[in-house]
Amino acid sequence: MKNITPLFYFKDHIKIVDQRKLPLELKYAYCRNEQDIFSAIKKMKIRGAPAIGVAAAFGLYLGIKDFNSKDRNDFIKRMEKVIRYLSSSRPTAVNLRWALEEVKQEVLANRGLKIDKLKGLIYNKAVKIMRDDQDRCRRMAGFAFGLIKKGDSCLTICNAGGMATSGYGTALGVFFKAKERGRKFEVFACETRPLLQGARITAWELKQKGIKTTLICDSMAASLMKKGVIKKVFVGADRVTMNGDFANKIGTYSIAALAKLHKIPFYVVAPLSTFDKKLHSGRDIPIEFRNKDEITKLYFKKSIAPSGIGVFNPAFDVTDAKLVTAFITEKGIIKPPYAKNIRKIINGRK
Ligand code: MRU
Repeated sequence: MKNITPLFYFKDHIKIVDQRKLPLELKYAYCRNEQDIFSAIKKMKIRGAPAIGVAAAFGLYLGIKDFNSKDRNDFIKRMEKVIRYLSSSRPTAVNLRWALEEVKQEVLANRGLKIDKLKGLIYNKAVKIMRDDQDRCRRMAGFAFGLIKKGDSCLTICNAGGMATSGYGTALGVFFKAKERGRKFEVFACETRPLLQGARITAWELKQKGIKTTLICDSMAASLMKKGVIKKVFVGADRVTMNGDFANKIGTYSIAALAKLHKIPFYVVAPLSTFDKKLHSGRDIPIEFRNKDEITKLYFKKSIAPSGIGVFNPAFDVTDAKLVTAFITEKGIIKPPYAKNIRKIINGRK
């Protein structure tokens, strides 16, 4: 099956699918410098934790490719400035900072090289981060697809598919693999208010792969669970802390709480690049608040609420570790107790 890829790289620019237009139009945005990448991430032309990490790594390359002094210290200073700038584009997904840090460490380890070589190194590292991300997704899917049994109905929220990664996807990757293996199952996709990543992108990806999909409003998940329709939940993550709490698209926490109430397994599919070794609890995860127009205006054009109304618009929520049945990573499945087992998998192998 064809990979769904959000980003294409070239030596002097990056071409990204403008995900705000999906599924009505497949339009591209062309990024030629770090400002273009910053804006594409902030405006969510590109979105999803692993995908914005990859975009940021390429953004760093675009931000240093025209640096024209021979002074290596100045080059490092410039690189650090671009990293600070790109890191500030969106606060919650740790993959963004993780990818920039990976590139920075590569440069620092090779700082004796000529500047042209360092530029090449940054480009190659961005390419590697992108390719590795595809491998990670495939490996996670390999570990998890067996959890889906014949006749299962699975629920997901937001878009954790090819468009949110370098291709293939985290939670959706599990569905793709199950389909590839001939498993008969179906997916209920939450539309995901306010930006409708579920309706616009997840439904589009699943349809392309020929997976039986039913779109629901977020508020319909509870009654489907009560009726016994939903057998498993698979979601992605933007940041997992060392105790197993995690941030994901707003609405994930209520689904996790409902799944617990109805004794439905709740799985989080996330590569280790989404795990934040520095944070011990979900309380410390910075949550992004976005513009009120996302809620009050249909596609930012037509008002659907009285003007001047107060709006609360966090893009993510934090789900407690105790609601998670297991994490699926590229190194295997992590089960509770998370404080011990997450460290074990992170420290044991990369
Ligand atoms: O605001 P978004 O669309 O970037 O939010 C994306 C999500 O919440 C995804 O579920 C998460 O990044 C995991 S993607 C593999």
